[in-house]
Amino acid sequence: MLFAALGPSTTRVRWPGSWLEPVEKVSTAMLRRGFEALTLATLVLGTSLLEDEKIKELMQQMTLDEKVGQLELLSRPWGDDFNGESAQWQETLQRIKGGKLGALFNGQGVEINRELQRVAVEESRLGIPLIFAADVWHGMWTIFPAPLAEAASWEPHLAYETARASAVETTASGLMWTFSPMVDTARDQRWGRNLEGAGEDPFLGEAFAVARVQGFQGNDTRANDSLASCLKHFAGYGGVLGGLDYSESDMSEATFREVFLPPFSAFVETNTATCECESECAAIRAGALTIMSAFQALGGVPATGNRWLLTDVLRSELGFKGFVVTDYNADGEMVNHGFAANQSDAARLALSAGVDMSMHSGAFRHLPDLVSNGSVSHERLDEAVLNVLRAKAAMGLFSNPYKTLDPSKEWPKGQGDKIEAHEQLARRAARKSLVLLKNENEILPLKKRGQRIAVIGWWANSTDTDGVGVIWGNKSHTVTLLQGLEAVLDSSQLRFVHGVDPSDASTLLHGLGKDSLAHAVAAARWADVVLLALGESSPMVGEAKSVTTLELPLGQRLLAEAVAKTKTPTVVLLKNGRALELEGAVRNASAIMVTWFLGKMTGHAIADVLFGDYSPSGRLPISFPIKSGQQPLYYNHLSSGRPCIWGWGWNNCYRDAPGREALFSFGHGLTYSIVEYGSPWLDSPSMPWDGELGIFCNISNRGQRAAHEVVQLYVHDMVASRVRPVKELKGFQKIWLQAQETQTVRFRLKREQLAFATPPHSDSTMLYMVEPGKFLLWVAPSSAAGEPIEFHLAGPPRLI
Ligand code: NOJ
Repeated sequence: MLFAALGPSTTRVRWPGSWLEPVEKVSTAMLRRGFEALTLATLVLGTSLLEDEKIKELMQQMTLDEKVGQLELLSRPWGDDFNGESAQWQETLQRIKGGKLGALFNGQGVEINRELQRVAVEESRLGIPLIFAADVWHGMWTIFPAPLAEAASWEPHLAYETARASAVETTASGLMWTFSPMVDTARDQRWGRNLEGAGEDPFLGEAFAVARVQGFQGNDTRANDSLASCLKHFAGYGGVLGGLDYSESDMSEATFREVFLPPFSAFVETNTATCECESECAAIRAGALTIMSAFQALGGVPATGNRWLLTDVLRSELGFKGFVVTDYNADGEMVNHGFAANQSDAARLALSAGVDMSMHSGAFRHLPDLVSNGSVSHERLDEAVLNVLRAKAAMGLFSNPYKTLDPSKEWPKGQGDKIEAHEQLARRAARKSLVLLKNENEILPLKKRGQRIAVIGWWANSTDTDGVGVIWGNKSHTVTLLQGLEAVLDSSQLRFVHGVDPSDASTLLHGLGKDSLAHAVAAARWADVVLLALGESSPMVGEAKSVTTLELPLGQRLLAEAVAKTKTPTVVLLKNGRALELEGAVRNASAIMVTWFLGKMTGHAIADVLFGDYSPSGRLPISFPIKSGQQPLYYNHLSSGRPCIWGWGWNNCYRDAPGREALFSFGHGLTYSIVEYGSPWLDSPSMPWDGELGIFCNISNRGQRAAHEVVQLYVHDMVASRVRPVKELKGFQKIWLQAQETQTVRFRLKREQLAFATPPHSDSTMLYMVEPGKFLLWVAPSSAAGEPIEFHLAGPPRLI
């Protein structure tokens, strides 16, 4: 459906005649629950009316060139040193002096940025301050787990804490704005950018999006340690076809609204698990100050030139009041898309669609001509400038342009306590992110004494622990897996063999590979337990790192087979930025633990969990397939008319794999204990139309060790006017159970949570609807577990 071509969403034309009776239609306003009071830009951005007046006065003094200058974001000349002689620095300085630059990115350092800001404030005609930006996704100097890893904690508040700590370090390094969080729902594991977001589920994604924005920006966007956040990539980028980066995404409007939009619209929602006090909730309502438009075409219209997306949905429907920045050269690339005739046309299309600031392309330098000849309206240009200046005001830059630029406070000066606290947080976050997929014969936890341990695998002594989104980082203190083990074990208990290189695809394993293999086998024979460190290296994940297969490279698989022949019990430690296809000796290993990219404290965190000092508590935010070819694979797929029954023909199975079934499904993860779920019960068999349903379940720890459990609530709408997902996550709680303890967990479900996007071709002009009727719900340890119970959503008292 070419929904991008439709008019504003609230007034769009529907097919006449109705083949269904939507009983209740939920407007987005209703979904925004109480946000209406805050729709004034001045409140949303935290700028006062007085400031708004001042900004408007300022704009009256601005020349066309100065206005356009505010809409340009350029990369700072590379390197952390200032070189006044270089042509690039000279050009940058001239731009700043001439008032022809709004913001700079990719350059930290208080001294340099302070000098650049001084030139902007003191030497440009109107003294408008610059914003200094960078890609800081999971830490500036102290590196925390990559976003996908952290989502595996199922603790949004943890993401709040790490984002806050990142903001403190980043702002103390002369920066003010991060291109983060990435909130793209990612359902195809071939896509390299899975690691940057929160996985395949929109509900979990929304919770993490809110927490991260709140963490980066803090309670007061004017504070010196508040880092403006940028939700990205708007929108549908996670749906690129075939998981191939920069391809088009093409989906129904309903899928867009139900799967890809929620983590973005979270910034106007007030419902969040991370909300612990009123002030935090207020920060959520303040919203992300900026949004980045995506590279790809959505329904045939590039996101960066897509008016439906950037104006109708983002501004009119969701009420976004910050500014929209393009992704890197995404406006200029509309020429390659064949959507714009040339750079000037690209600038016209981007600005007219709703982009406010252009990243790096230089296309906006055509705007003065385009405005002068009437191709772009003065009003739209002014609106974009106003959006940027309001954000600057909301960041407190007009009153305090040097807010992050005090040399006496540059990180890490005088920050001993904070450094220590951030390192502890990095360790806490990393161990919470580990996911134990399998643990046969209780091989884990390991013993600290009396066991010989062979560590085999290329990444065990490597500081390649960050994956994506780290430009600087303090590598000198990264704790490798080997160092983490050495801190716990006597050296006589430990042997390390490098194995094969990460992307080794050699079948022969000759030369170094063969020697290495022989050493690996010898070490495995010597050991009581093997820790086999396999997976992906940083160059194998991230932007432009799509793959056609999720198999481990052949060299690593052969290494695993050789080790398996020794019959020494083996724990596979996977380093990965996406779900992988696990097969042969890897799949059959005694235990498998997903370790992702954990950042600075990798080694200590893994050791904490391996030896049982910390109970494994992570759960998968993505599904691991049985076969690579199942992609895109996600638990919340729509019901098929012929569900897969493996072994029977003519149904929704592959010939060589059971359809949409995963090897390890979304939500899966083990503990070192035995946790049992009782049958859930309801406070009423029926959810009142205007009330809520109470759902209860007893969760018991039957084992001898205390354990974390992530209790998950899933729902299925049994009969609806649009085919519904087989299951949808609607709630989760992480609880701590002592050995032999039982706790009753309570969820509350409301009617709005059962809403879905209105089917196309209905006569409704509303975007979302709820239908009364029968539903199933599960309280379960994963999306693949549990027995459903039924409830009923009562019809409204009176149909109008
Ligand atoms: C391109 C990436 O898509 C985006 O996520 C990033 O923020 C920009 N480059 C800037 O580096």
